[in-house]
Amino acid sequence: MAFFRQELAIDLGTANTVIFKDDNIILDEPSIIALETKTDKLVAIGTTAQYYEEHTPPRLYTIRPMMNGVIADYDAAEKMLTGFIKKATGQQKGLLRRLFKPALKIVIGIPGGSTPVDMRSIRDSASHAGAHDLFMIYEPMASAMGIGIDVMEPNGNMIVDIGGGTTEIAVISLGGIVESSSIHVAGNEITTDIIDYLGQQHNISIGRTTAEQIKFSVGSVLPELPTDEEPEPYMVEGKNLVTAHPATAAISYKEISSCIDKTISKIESEIIKVLQRTPPELYSNIVRNGIWLAGGGSLLRGIAQRFTEKVNIEFHVAEDPLKAVARGTCLALKGTDHYPFLMR
Ligand SMILES: Nc1ncnc2c1ncn2[C@@H]1O[C@H](COP(=O)(O)OP(=O)(O)OP(=O)(O)O)[C@@H](O)[C@H]1O
Ligand SMILES: [Mg+2]
Repeated sequence: MAFFRQELAIDLGTANTVIFKDDNIILDEPSIIALETKTDKLVAIGTTAQYYEEHTPPRLYTIRPMMNGVIADYDAAEKMLTGFIKKATGQQKGLLRRLFKPALKIVIGIPGGSTPVDMRSIRDSASHAGAHDLFMIYEPMASAMGIGIDVMEPNGNMIVDIGGGTTEIAVISLGGIVESSSIHVAGNEITTDIIDYLGQQHNISIGRTTAEQIKFSVGSVLPELPTDEEPEPYMVEGKNLVTAHPATAAISYKEISSCIDKTISKIESEIIKVLQRTPPELYSNIVRNGIWLAGGGSLLRGIAQRFTEKVNIEFHVAEDPLKAVARGTCLALKGTDHYPFLMR
């Protein structure tokens, strides 16, 4: 019996999953699950599972089911999605759950580069997770909506979403994606650059969690920041690669800007390629409107300034860039009857 109806907007990201219900964020957790080694039984999802990933207890292992924005491990993704949906809807267990199962309508964001197979795995896992009515929306379209752009207008807008696994670049006009590119160069690669740099230049071995802390604290794409925006150096404590003695180093934002420079340049080149393919009228709109940055990577210091100088078009960072896709997906959820770009 479908006793009542619930509606969810989901951004199932490589790094984080964000869920909106009734215009509010009700879930914002890392996309990860923990399983029992012996039985493969689900032990934890999201934040708790990430804690296990960092502390590696012997009887558990963790999986990040999404890679490059799409489902990489089907079973794990289904377990994660089911768990998150249960958490978000407050579903009951056992008999109560069977009797009062909510009719679930879901809109879920998918990367611009999704293949029919990717879409099918999303559809199947969402349906196994309890979705009765499922729509999919391309993430760049969702970010544009989340940023507040009227996507149905005949007006070209460019969005660059730098997430964990993918950077999505798209030109949107008249409710469609006119030009786009989705590359597997994003936050994860930047984190790897930092790990490699610490190893090569400071002889210090660090894990991904520490590398992310460094990125958040002193991440910059410019070697010179305005004095009032300069972060204090980050004191890293790790292990000397040679002696295995405890080792410390003070890491400055200048060092980070240099070690992630190549990766940032790859994103810049891709933006330019998409602009080269953009039809002239839409290009003029973009020059007038500026280019919008979203996703966690857009929080790197100096990114709008660096891209503006490189491309000669003004870049703006979206307000609350980590939530742009989920917010837009939530807006799409309210208009499932009239947005032609929603897919079933
Ligand atoms: N303040 C920050 N500075 C730099 N990077 C950040 C910051 N906050 C988050 N990130 C990075 O942003 C990435 C996560 O961003 P986001 O949540 O937009 O990705 P996602 O949607 O999960 O991934 P994808 O869109 O690729 O599927 C991570 O790599 C994280 O390290
Ligand atoms: Mg994303």
